[in-house]
Amino acid sequence: MKNKVDKLLKEATRAITAAASSRELDDIRVRYLGKKGDITVLLKSLGQLSPEERPSAGQAVNTGRKIVEKELLERKNDIESAEREMKLQEEQIDITLPGVSFRRGHRHPVTRVMDEVIQIFTGMGFSVREGPEVESDYYNFEALNLPKNHPARDMQDTFYIGEDTVLRTHTSPVQIRTMESETPPLRIISPGKVYRVDYDVSHSPMFHQVEGFMVDENVAFSDLKGTFVHFVNQFFGEDTPVRFRPSFFPFTEPSAEVDIGCVMCSGKGCRLCSSTGWIEILGSGMIHPEVFRHVKYDKEKFSGFAFGIGIERVAMLRYGIDDIRLFFENDMRFLEQF
Ligand code: DAH
Repeated sequence: MKNKVDKLLKEATRAITAAASSRELDDIRVRYLGKKGDITVLLKSLGQLSPEERPSAGQAVNTGRKIVEKELLERKNDIESAEREMKLQEEQIDITLPGVSFRRGHRHPVTRVMDEVIQIFTGMGFSVREGPEVESDYYNFEALNLPKNHPARDMQDTFYIGEDTVLRTHTSPVQIRTMESETPPLRIISPGKVYRVDYDVSHSPMFHQVEGFMVDENVAFSDLKGTFVHFVNQFFGEDTPVRFRPSFFPFTEPSAEVDIGCVMCSGKGCRLCSSTGWIEILGSGMIHPEVFRHVKYDKEKFSGFAFGIGIERVAMLRYGIDDIRLFFENDMRFLEQF
């Protein structure tokens, strides 16, 4: 028996030392110590020995089993720590590699200019109101003193949706909607999209305006002037020249267009300003009594001024852009410059 055990031990030790993975080691354990393993079989065979032989044979087998168990355990620890080490090596992260960079978006130039204009006016105490883009003939024209067949309707090439429904051609209808539901004193601006049948370097079928108006007792043309001089100084810079030029709008009387000194040639005269040295940036005027009549305001008690700014227009002047359509083509080469 002792010899048998010694032979098995030698074999087992060699196999254990040679085992290269936990898996192989487990196979070895089964081969010697498993239910039908060689050492287990020896143990079971002890019963067939004579009572005199049994104690020493039993001791030999048990000692052998303990040695194999110990060797298996030691080898198992070695292999497992080697395997752990290998896994750690494989999973190591090289923190010196360049990272994956994310492209960061930013606001569209029209949105930026819009926000800036809004900020300048809210800084002067104006509040924001919005109105619908699909508008009735009444709010877009009629209540703004543009009755049907009025020649001034031709100034605005309108998208008609139905007989009395249009895509608003300007943000001025928000004046009417606000005055109908609120009472003076009012200082309101209304930013938004407007639509006209028009398409060339300076016209887009959809563009943005900021409407503004102020109504109170004793609002004078000088208030309008002071408001714009402040706006122009804030938006285009402190020393930008401003002038008021008589004009016509059906919803204001008197009406004025506001010009600034040409941003390209500083007033010397160039193609942008048609050699005049001046560039128009907005329309304005004192709110017409007919407009007050439509919203049932007492024209003897209240007066007010109103204005409309074309956002793309001031954005083009600010950034030196010569084609309005660039804003809406979504060409990244253009947009990335802002
Ligand atoms: N609604 C005009 C337009 O779209 C702009 C405008 C001019 C608005 C004078 C006003 C104003 O409120 O008083 O061309």
